[in-house]
Amino acid sequence: MARRIFISGTAGFIGFHLARLLLAQGWRVHGYDGLTDYYDVRLKQRRHAMLAQNEAFAATEAMLEDVDTLQRTVEAFQPDVIVHLAAQAGVRYSLENPRAYIDANILGTFNVMECARAVPVQHLLMASTSSVYGANEDMPFRETDKADTPLTIYAATKKATEAMGHSYAHIYGLPTTLFRFFTVYGPWGRPDMALFKFTRGILQGTPIDIYNHGEMWRDFTYVDDLVRGIGLLIDTVPPLPGARGEPIPGDSLSPAAPFRVVNIGNSDKVRLLDFVEAIEAEIGTKAIRNYLPMQPGDVPATFADASLIQALTGFRPNTPIREGVARFVAWYRDYYGV
Ligand SMILES: NC(=O)c1ccc[n+]([C@@H]2O[C@H](COP(=O)([O-])OP(=O)(O)OC[C@H]3O[C@@H](n4cnc5c(N)ncnc54)[C@H](O)[C@@H]3O)[C@@H](O)[C@H]2O)c1
Repeated sequence: MARRIFISGTAGFIGFHLARLLLAQGWRVHGYDGLTDYYDVRLKQRRHAMLAQNEAFAATEAMLEDVDTLQRTVEAFQPDVIVHLAAQAGVRYSLENPRAYIDANILGTFNVMECARAVPVQHLLMASTSSVYGANEDMPFRETDKADTPLTIYAATKKATEAMGHSYAHIYGLPTTLFRFFTVYGPWGRPDMALFKFTRGILQGTPIDIYNHGEMWRDFTYVDDLVRGIGLLIDTVPPLPGARGEPIPGDSLSPAAPFRVVNIGNSDKVRLLDFVEAIEAEIGTKAIRNYLPMQPGDVPATFADASLIQALTGFRPNTPIREGVARFVAWYRDYYGV
């Protein structure tokens, strides 16, 4: 019988790609997404419509905060595994509308955790972010580094998600994995993120905003690589204390719970201006650059140590930046007919 997975955020960028991958691997997938209007809802509707072409997919379009609908949906589906990706994302928007992050990421995540323990699922996996490394300057970022200096309410709510997950893993013995994603990019991406804005600006001949005068570095992760990493972690269930073999060097496994935090990144930091040049080269037009100071809450660099996921699963990202950018630009041109 097909294994059953409940994924929140399936109308979103990463959830859509993960659902596609798992459907192709023979899973039965139930998606859950409130199709919030943080960005173009049509893009979210199109993603769900694409997934709905597969009969092993069904979705409930509702908010995480609607606890009755969420509980009914999870109870009826009886998943083996839950992957929780739905969230209010975005570093910059968290300065404008902090409450959205408290609602979706704190209350919403709590509701998902309650569902996971009620079933109970074999493994709960939830999205955190490289933003939890906050003001850390020691790079690459390791899962075992202290991460106590969040710079935005977005990062703070994700850090809270990690702490809440640990407590349920401890009290209920609920195996839980938290992913820390770095800057994810690729087709069907998010309109609020740099690649999308840069591509649109270059194609339309409008200026693109480049913060910190271009002195920015990001660990860009291609979305197909990322969801392959998530897929491998689904079957890497953190063991209970007392049921463990040889420790893995650098493992973030909690001494008190079946709980682990795992970076999924490319382990390569790319200068933002090189990224812009890759888009320009792909489109064949120069960008009009609007150099700006650093944005509040932003960090100049992120860079993942991805040796833990590699030790656990053998995962290695393999999409070069030029190829990933080319695939995004091709998708963008096709989607918008430009
Ligand atoms: N894309 C990245 O580079 C990146 C980096 C680090 C972490 N993350 C995390 O990965 C996860 C997925 O991100 P994404 O890039 O796919 O973002 P996304 O915004 O495209 O997807 C999130 C989805 O969640 C849904 N959602 C938001 N609030 C909701 C609520 N209260 N109830 C129900 N649905 C709700 C939205 O409608 C959206 O479809 C998020 O948890 C995000 O914080 C993403």
